Amino acid sequence: MSIAIDPFDPQISKDPYPHYERLRREAPVYRSEPSGFFMVTRYDDVMRVFKQPDLFSSTAMMTIMMSGLGVGTQASGLGFQGADAARMLELFQQMPIPLGEFLKSRMLIASDPPIHGPLRSLVNRGFTPKRIAALEPRIREIARACLEPVREKGEMDLVHDFSIPLPVTVIAELLGIETERRADFKRWSDVLIQSGSGSTEGLRPETVFEAFRELDAYLRTAIERRRSEPRSDLIGTLVAAEASEAALSTTEVLMFVVLLLIAGNETTTNLIGNGMIALSRNAAQLSAVQQEPERIPALVEEILRYDAPIQILFRRATRDTELAGVRIPKDSTVLPCIGAAHRDERQFPDPDRFDIERSNTVHLGFGFGIHFCLGASLARLEARVAFEELLGAMAGFELAEPNVPYIDSFLLRGPKRLPIHFTPARNGRSHGSTERARA
Ligand code: HEM
Repeated sequence: MSIAIDPFDPQISKDPYPHYERLRREAPVYRSEPSGFFMVTRYDDVMRVFKQPDLFSSTAMMTIMMSGLGVGTQASGLGFQGADAARMLELFQQMPIPLGEFLKSRMLIASDPPIHGPLRSLVNRGFTPKRIAALEPRIREIARACLEPVREKGEMDLVHDFSIPLPVTVIAELLGIETERRADFKRWSDVLIQSGSGSTEGLRPETVFEAFRELDAYLRTAIERRRSEPRSDLIGTLVAAEASEAALSTTEVLMFVVLLLIAGNETTTNLIGNGMIALSRNAAQLSAVQQEPERIPALVEEILRYDAPIQILFRRATRDTELAGVRIPKDSTVLPCIGAAHRDERQFPDPDRFDIERSNTVHLGFGFGIHFCLGASLARLEARVAFEELLGAMAGFELAEPNVPYIDSFLLRGPKRLPIHFTPARNGRSHGSTERARA
């Protein structure tokens, strides 16, 4: 029987793994219809795509950035479609940024060599290991503040109460958003993140446009201010780099902030949610990390492999080529499917088993090669602290809705909501030992 798999079909994103399994077995490089995009599902082939940025260009990632602004492409099913997309473009043309300037702005995730390297070194200054490590105490405070109102209740919606506010607050503080504008920033982030996740259900083009326009106005003032009063926050660091050769324009700073919102928030939210789902279904693994919290970093790596927050990326073939014997014409869109590569039995024995003791942990959850996630160490830190605090606050927990509703996105994977019941830990924090061990 011939295969007919459309990665944009919402039925597939509910549980993509059996479909990925079939593709890996029968058609590891598969031209999906109606988009004509090539899905790549075996680990080695996905690696081949990541390792050849000259052949598989990241300019295709612009699709994701545009969907973050609510404008999709009919083929991808991302962002607004039809009349709504036309309305969004019309609104966009009213922006203070001329469309031409917007289109010629460099965007880290959608750039190729030789533009990518200098750009990456520039923004890297905001993500040095020292700067990230220094955030740990504050991340812990934020995690505890999220848990405080629910700690004694024994129930919470993990997504709403914990895994959404934690990364949004961390990014707001990293950027240096003033306390009095945090609520606005959260509102702009929520809207841009929702449209960036591929689902515009219930979202109006006007709402996305307003959020983007307000964020633009806020950031332009923030950038101006830092030009006269230098500061060491992330916006300040980007502005301070203005004298360098790869200096970012104001529009590029704005787009980088939008990229951080899209790339750094919902991904971390999903990592925490997917982890709690996996633990709820694997009692032995849960008890192992509860007894030995120093295994939490291994837990985080296995969540990234087992149920990757980013399932699929976009690339464009720069010339006619061939992958696993399949001809890929120039300009085709190629989808390296991280979620599928992670269940490839050629790479990970017994891949459908959630196992924090795996010896092979070389997953692609943060990508691979020149575009390897800029925020990986921040995400790992946030996730470690999140699980230390969550598991420390609970003697045990279970999902209140065993049929987890997933977000409507083929790109990102994570629960829409995750109500849980839990038994509060007797001393309120059973994992103080982790911190003592680290101190
Ligand atoms: C669990 C959380 C996260 C996951 C799973 C994740 C995943 C990824 C992946 C797969 C890529 C590669 C994209 C490509 O090759 O086209 C990437 C790139 C990127 N990520 Fe993350 N990410 C996470 C958290 C973060 C955070 C917290 C930030 C920043 C605050 C961030 C910022 C970025 C940026 C700026 C890039 C582009 C890097 C480049 O193009 O050179 N990410 N991420």
